[in-house]
Amino acid sequence: MITVNGSEVPLPADPRVSLLDFLREHLGLTGSKKGCNQGACGACTVLVDGERILSCLALAVQYSGRQITTIEGLGTADALHPLQQAFIEHEGFQCGYCTPGQICSAIGMVEEVRRGVPSHVTADLSDNAIELTRDELRERMSGNLCRCGAYNGIVEAIAGTFSRQSAE
Ligand code: FES
Ligand code: FES
Repeated sequence: MITVNGSEVPLPADPRVSLLDFLREHLGLTGSKKGCNQGACGACTVLVDGERILSCLALAVQYSGRQITTIEGLGTADALHPLQQAFIEHEGFQCGYCTPGQICSAIGMVEEVRRGVPSHVTADLSDNAIELTRDELRERMSGNLCRCGAYNGIVEAIAGTFSRQSAE
């Protein structure tokens, strides 16, 4: 069994099914997108126990007993996740194809920063309180491509949500 957005569901009988295909084709959760299907674009990003992964590179059976969260599990049309709302306010998308992956990735990314996980541009590796500067944010989100080039809005949406939550 595997838990997807709070509901326990049986794993596929075929061990070759990727987590992305399981979500999209077996469960009908088409929010996670298949962009490249080879780990290069980030459109398929989902959260596993709060950590971001590329679901196109994962086999569903690997995640037996784990908690998967997709974009469908973060918010609804009537009750958007704060980051979804921020993407609207900051125009962080055009076609929207990359957006579910961007949002899941950003939520996982912010937790990595809070845990003090350094990135390639982190200056002080001994500093556990990493500031989410624009450079940090861009570097850490560099695995999520946007063919529409909505990067400025994406950065502002993530930075705005993160600083709002820090201030609370
Ligand atoms: S579809 Fe998974 S990284 Fe592109
Ligand atoms: S909004 Fe179109 S690919 Fe990002």
